[in-house]
Amino acid sequence: MDFYRWMLSFHLIAAFSVAAALVLYSVLVFSGRRKKTLDETRLLFRVAPVATPLIGGGTALVLILGVILAINGGPQDFKLWNAWVIIGIVLWALLGAIGQRTGAYYTAVQELAESGGEGAEQEVLARLRAPTGALLNLATVGIFVLLLLDMIFKPWH
Ligand code: HEM
Repeated sequence: MDFYRWMLSFHLIAAFSVAAALVLYSVLVFSGRRKKTLDETRLLFRVAPVATPLIGGGTALVLILGVILAINGGPQDFKLWNAWVIIGIVLWALLGAIGQRTGAYYTAVQELAESGGEGAEQEVLARLRAPTGALLNLATVGIFVLLLLDMIFKPWH
């Protein structure tokens, strides 16, 4: 297998790890909306860190390997300034920005749950049920799907 094929394989593994993290987050967001007590929510916050290295490492590697692929060009002679590659980089930046906002939203909920102060239970459950987090998560997944479509169909190439 040549250098380009190796880089493409690693790029795909990194993309899969981002997908795995997004699936896990989506399950947590979905089940979080159905929790009825603070105790029930603890499992969500214990499972969530599993996705952190997947999304952190995956998003960094997918960009680095994507840039290496585009510079190398491979058999189809891709260029870094091809429209689909630039669209990919813009969508990647958007994915990071919205993903980080989603993470910040749920980290704040987790901190509130751990503080255990008066009224924390009601507030935590209300925030898990509010549409804000679910919509942010949906937007992140939507951008990921757009990225995938951009990679597969390579518009204007
Ligand atoms: C989460 C983000 C990303 C995902 C899910 C993703 C996914 C994919 C997939 C599935 C392919 C294989 C497409 C095919 O061969 O038909 C691919 C290839 C490629 N990606 Fe990405 N990618 C992502 C980010 C990026 C970024 C940010 C760049 C640009 C810097 C990039 C550059 C490339 C290049 C140059 C190829 C090689 C195309 C080929 O040889 O067919 N990717 N990517």
